[in-house]
Amino acid sequence: MATELRVEHLTAGYGMLEIVRDINFTVRTGQRIGLLGRNGAGKSTTLAAVVGLAQRQQGTITLNGQDISTKPTYRRARAGISLVPQARDIFPSLTVEENLLAGLNGRPSREALEFAFGMFPRLRDRRANGGSQLSGGEQQMLAVARALVGQPQILLLDEPLEGLAPQIRDELMDTIIQMTTRTGIGCLLIEQDVDVVLGFADQVLVLENGRCLYAGTSEALRKSPEILEQTIGLGKVQ
Ligand SMILES: Nc1ncnc2c1ncn2[C@@H]1O[C@H](COP(=O)(O)OP(=O)(O)OP(=O)(O)O)[C@@H](O)[C@H]1O
Ligand SMILES: [Mg+2]
Repeated sequence: MATELRVEHLTAGYGMLEIVRDINFTVRTGQRIGLLGRNGAGKSTTLAAVVGLAQRQQGTITLNGQDISTKPTYRRARAGISLVPQARDIFPSLTVEENLLAGLNGRPSREALEFAFGMFPRLRDRRANGGSQLSGGEQQMLAVARALVGQPQILLLDEPLEGLAPQIRDELMDTIIQMTTRTGIGCLLIEQDVDVVLGFADQVLVLENGRCLYAGTSEALRKSPEILEQTIGLGKVQ
């Protein structure tokens, strides 16, 4: 069954503090969305609000037409929305496999674990290693793989490539693309590199100071790089 996450007129922040205002987007099964914006624009806050980790002040968040905006975070996760946060949040004292099992929400599934190892063979090789013994890239893979074993319908990735060397970035991005294609999962990716976002996403949102400055197709943005230049100075699209 197709899944649809719909965010309408979302205004959100921390307590009374408003960070993002009037944000609108939809992520459906098989769809890839990119979220761009300068540091501090409100990208992470937007996703945090979607999963209930930041305060929704106005607007609605629905999953398949059901309002989820007042549900606690774990209920949103069970309903099929998974966030890989910008802080990798892996458990350093647990092994790779234990970290992955922690992503199963109490629903053990060998199949899901094997699928994650299939997507990230490096993690299979290191399944008995402690989380703290992994490189930055491996930790990032583990964070994505852990979300994957929960078999979400909608996957929200907050800068999964941050801080990684170019070759590892390419490798992880290829895996993310393969994974979304194979699972048909709906995916929203936050990433600073415009070319990566345009190569990944069908639809793109650009945030600046908590407002949405652009929402449209990657194709249209590719043809109008001046939108990026004028708004957030993200530079020319190659
Ligand atoms: N827990 C918090 N409490 C109060 N303000 C916060 C909190 N987290 C973030 N902010 C503020 O909200 C604003 C937006 O932050 P956010 O992390 O959403 O930006 P971002 O677009 O993800 O930036 P980056 O590219 O650096 O990750 C910033 O001004 C930040 O200081
Ligand atoms: Mg962020």
